Amino acid sequence: MADSLFLGLDVGTSGVKAILVSQSGEVAATATTPLSLSTPRPGWAEQDPAAWWDATLASIHAVRRARPDATVVSVGVSGQMHSSVFLDKAGSVIRPALLWCDGRTTAECAEITAAVGGEDRLRNLACNPALEGFTLPKVLWLRKHEPEAYARLATVMLPKDYIRYRLTGAIATDPSDASATLMYDTANLRWSDEILKAVNVSRSIVPDVGGSSDVLGRITAEAAAVTTLPAGTPVVGGGADNACGAAGVGVVTPGEVVSSWGTSGTVLAPMMEPRVDPKLRAHTFCHVVPGTWYMMGVVLSAGGAFSWYRDQFARGMDSRTADRKLDEEAASVRAGSGGVTFLPYLQGERTPHRDAAARGAFLGLSLAHTRAHATRAVLEGITFALRDSLTILQDLGLSPSHLLLTGGGAKSPFLRRLQSEVFGLPITTVNREEGPAYGAALLGAVGVGAFADVAAAARATLTRAPLEHPEEGAHQAYGEPYARFRQSFPAARAELLSPDR
Ligand code: XUL
Repeated sequence: MADSLFLGLDVGTSGVKAILVSQSGEVAATATTPLSLSTPRPGWAEQDPAAWWDATLASIHAVRRARPDATVVSVGVSGQMHSSVFLDKAGSVIRPALLWCDGRTTAECAEITAAVGGEDRLRNLACNPALEGFTLPKVLWLRKHEPEAYARLATVMLPKDYIRYRLTGAIATDPSDASATLMYDTANLRWSDEILKAVNVSRSIVPDVGGSSDVLGRITAEAAAVTTLPAGTPVVGGGADNACGAAGVGVVTPGEVVSSWGTSGTVLAPMMEPRVDPKLRAHTFCHVVPGTWYMMGVVLSAGGAFSWYRDQFARGMDSRTADRKLDEEAASVRAGSGGVTFLPYLQGERTPHRDAAARGAFLGLSLAHTRAHATRAVLEGITFALRDSLTILQDLGLSPSHLLLTGGGAKSPFLRRLQSEVFGLPITTVNREEGPAYGAALLGAVGVGAFADVAAAARATLTRAPLEHPEEGAHQAYGEPYARFRQSFPAARAELLSPDR
């Protein structure tokens, strides 16, 4: 009999991944199709939803070719959070999507905050402040700057919801993505009529919300023809990439914390109630497990800052081995990078600075420094930025005994050790390296009854590597370099803001 497999899709910023997962959790096939990012102006970031769809088809075809005998029994979708897909009433895309790392909407954030009656009121309504990357400010930007496009706007949806729409024709979202739009009452799990009314945006533009592991649509005949998936295959709600990434390593209950390196970097802690950071440096969103929320700090450029560094300053290296070579180079220098500090705020920063105009820097360079110092400073700077997020969660009592790692920072032995030492905590990884796509596949499996719930799916499919402990004294060696990192941005803020601000 042909194998029954669960398809997981993840619309990332650097590529669309498709994976096929077996009943026992093995990854039977995986394929990633790269995407490019358009930055029409400094601080802006756009992608065309048509490119996501084309990349999704290419990745689905690749995994289908790898396992032509298998039957796909469900589809789970995951993707970038906050990024805005604008559709007209015929369901056509109006303009390229403004992404989660787009910083153009500072004026609209101020407008939203004022319209609802201040930041405290917004925190009560949405559990979050208005930040440039979120979806609602993008809707207001469209209204102000592209009124003809806004006049055609019938629906705003999230990247993974657009893919489900193309697969099934259903217009829907799930709580994990809805709660990250700034239009959702995150604590009470419903669209916020108060916020929508305050900014004069019609409730009709937001999709209905269904459960992350509920079947929200089925593959249409048209999609079956282009994907080779059987018509009628169920597609579940799925979830935001950070929530699916956490589910994909089994982090669904309080007490656990996951640190993720994608284009962005995040530190995420599940909660059984929607607690909010009083200073609003970390976000509060719904998890993909019903009745569960999470608090998360976000570093806008983590893997993104490293790729930028590699592409600009290590061009001659063979792309297949560049990351490993740069790790080796960084490992040849001692903790603290010989006094060089790197601030990874290349696209602004959310946690802890909340400043879309923040920009990155190398500080403390001398003629004695080599590229190895700069390479280590980049990796340390990204890890220090993640530590800023972890410290906020710890200060609020979300204090883990160890950390789960996922994404690029989990695969590299150097980055595992660096994180463990900088965080001062033991770290572990799981036996699946597929990130949000794996969580999405598990949600699809739950949706068709293969597992009772996400926690059961994670228990049945994941095993954890033994804890890796920081070496004696290693954490302490980062005391001074981390203090230097923390002081640098506030001290040099005026010089580190975008001139286009
Ligand atoms: C989270 C965020 C990013 C994106 C990356 O708030 O904006 O981590 O989800 O795809």
